[in-house]
Amino acid sequence: MAQQNSSISLSTGQQIPILGFGTWHASGEELEAALDAALKAGYRHIDTATVYENERFIGNVLKKWLDSGRIKRSDLFIVTKVPPSGNRSGDIEKWLKRSLRNLHLTYIDLYLVHTPFAYQDAGEEFHPLNEQGEIMIDTDTDHLQIWSAMENQVVQGRTKAIGLSNFNITQIKKILDNAKLPVSNLQIELHVHFQQNELVKFCQNHDISVTAYAPLGSRGFVEKIGKGDTVPDSLKNITVLEIAKKYEKTPAQILLKHIIQKGIATVPKSVNPLRIKENIELFDWKLETEDVDKLNALDMGESARVCDFRSGFFKSLSKHPEFPF
Ligand SMILES: NC(=O)c1ccc[n+]([C@@H]2O[C@H](COP(=O)([O-])OP(=O)(O)OC[C@H]3O[C@@H](n4cnc5c(N)ncnc54)[C@H](OP(=O)(O)O)[C@@H]3O)[C@@H](O)[C@H]2O)c1
Repeated sequence: MAQQNSSISLSTGQQIPILGFGTWHASGEELEAALDAALKAGYRHIDTATVYENERFIGNVLKKWLDSGRIKRSDLFIVTKVPPSGNRSGDIEKWLKRSLRNLHLTYIDLYLVHTPFAYQDAGEEFHPLNEQGEIMIDTDTDHLQIWSAMENQVVQGRTKAIGLSNFNITQIKKILDNAKLPVSNLQIELHVHFQQNELVKFCQNHDISVTAYAPLGSRGFVEKIGKGDTVPDSLKNITVLEIAKKYEKTPAQILLKHIIQKGIATVPKSVNPLRIKENIELFDWKLETEDVDKLNALDMGESARVCDFRSGFFKSLSKHPEFPF
């Protein structure tokens, strides 16, 4: 039975369901089954990206639901993103058309510039590496030209709204000062240990909705990149566990509620049907102020950032003119 999924308003007048379905690191039949479970559980906001290389699996499921009349296109809110290797004004249209083909859609609800930096174009290779194993960057990134190409996609009807991801305040300000169409959304890493208060406040003051990625701390990714010892596991934090016990909720539900109760959208990823359902059961209860305060106090700032573009194969990004991000 579909559940009420409350939403927030975008500057375009659209409504974005505050709780969406993340899909990074999910693919194939596993993703198709998970998305089917998510739609049954009431998710209507789906977050993907060209670099996740999973749009066609999402498209397969959407097509089935739409063709059978189980859902209307206008009930869905689909978000996808320009790949960093296509982050040039002349390439935006090509990549958006490819996303539309893979998703079996005629328009996207929100198209995001995934990163403030660009990689060299290597066709279908989304993370081109040099002989040293570092990302091959493109240093000619021009945000104003890219934004203008994004605006053109709205005019052409391929997306209803446009936004940014992983951009900092200086970069957003420059775009706002020159934009013809609004920056409707900023998608950023945001979780209980990395709350990004300054950036969120800036967005709220400029009518930019915020979507939190890695809301549960993206634990699988943290372990994969060897940061398990430096970034704490928010799902095991003692304060989170105590609050979960008090409300008879799970730690994940407490972490997600802490985000959405502030009017920030979020897109937890799961391929587990029970967790998919658990993660959206957030709309008939509320955290009391004293518990919000306790969760606010867990913020560790930059030291808890998971997706940091300064290490591993991202190291060469420090040479990008838009660094730091
Ligand atoms: N714009 C960007 O640059 C960017 C970057 C990163 C992510 N994103 C988006 O944000 C989404 C969410 O971020 P994320 O996937 O990195 O991390 P996340 O949602 O914080 O965490 C996902 C992990 O938590 C597990 N999980 C999910 N629900 C759970 C629950 N109720 N209890 C315990 N564990 C649970 C999942 O495992 P199972 O699947 O096994 O349940 C998975 O390992 C992505 O999928 C993507 O759509 C965007």
